[in-house]
Amino acid sequence: MDYQNIIVETHERVGLVRLNRPKALNALNDQLMDELGQALATLDTDDGIGCIVLTGNEKAFAAGADIGAMASYTFMDVYKGEYITRNWEQLRKVRKPVIAAVAGYALGGGCEVAMMCDFIIAADTAKFGQPEIKIGTMPGAGGTQRLPRAVSKAKAMDMCLTGRMMDAAEAERAGLVSRIVPAERLLEEAMAAAKTISEMSLPIAMMVKESINRAYESTLSDGVQFERRMFHGTFGTQDQKEGMKAFLEKRPPKFNHQ
Ligand code: HXC
Repeated sequence: MDYQNIIVETHERVGLVRLNRPKALNALNDQLMDELGQALATLDTDDGIGCIVLTGNEKAFAAGADIGAMASYTFMDVYKGEYITRNWEQLRKVRKPVIAAVAGYALGGGCEVAMMCDFIIAADTAKFGQPEIKIGTMPGAGGTQRLPRAVSKAKAMDMCLTGRMMDAAEAERAGLVSRIVPAERLLEEAMAAAKTISEMSLPIAMMVKESINRAYESTLSDGVQFERRMFHGTFGTQDQKEGMKAFLEKRPPKFNHQ
């Protein structure tokens, strides 16, 4: 596929998607989000891919939705035409694990896209924020919903109401990111984590992702029940037989992702 605003590569069983509008700090316009949606859907249905990494460049993961494109939109454009918001939910539909590798700015929609991924690995240069209020709007792709779940109501209110940025250290303390790495090693570390995941059984990784996401969508008892059924389901896979047999035979497993 010939993309203009993203670069897609595959490395063994890992799909790497780079946001690529460097002159605009990877500002997210409709074209970029359409391409991202298509690329993710393609990787998600490719049996040869077990994990996806989404990244930007050293200066920015993404500095938000494209303000130039949005500035003159009317209510009818965004409500009826779903400009800006169309295709943003595509990330949520991806069933394989997706890691956000964030260096530099992850602001507004950029922060929201990072939070839609399954976990965030941050460079020590990362800066997160929901500054929409400073330009007369507000988060529109889950920022007011995912941020409080990730970092507490107090910090989410602080971030969304003042529009201030959080550095990588604060983001890690608050639980927004899973780890911080030196900027020059960001991609290497994210790709290594993705490779590890991609070598696990894909159906089991998908079940883990689905189960953890349930923690946000259900009561504890419903979530525990869901997890139990998924756990039972793992015994229907060939990879469970292989994984446990390999352990007992003291050898590495050879998963066939079935
Ligand atoms: C369009 C953007 C942009 C954006 C940066 N640029 N962010 N263009 N939309 N969100 C462009 C600038 O216009 C500039 O273009 C170039 O990228 C470099 O940016 P500078 O501002 O010159 O860089 P710097 O001084 O280093 O400042 C970096 C920055 C600042 C602090 C990140 O760019 C900034 O505040 N950006 C806006 C952040 C923001 O408000 N994001 C939320 C958007 S609303 P030129 O052509 O001049 O070189 C949103 C809603 C989401 O995201 C809703 C989802 C459904």
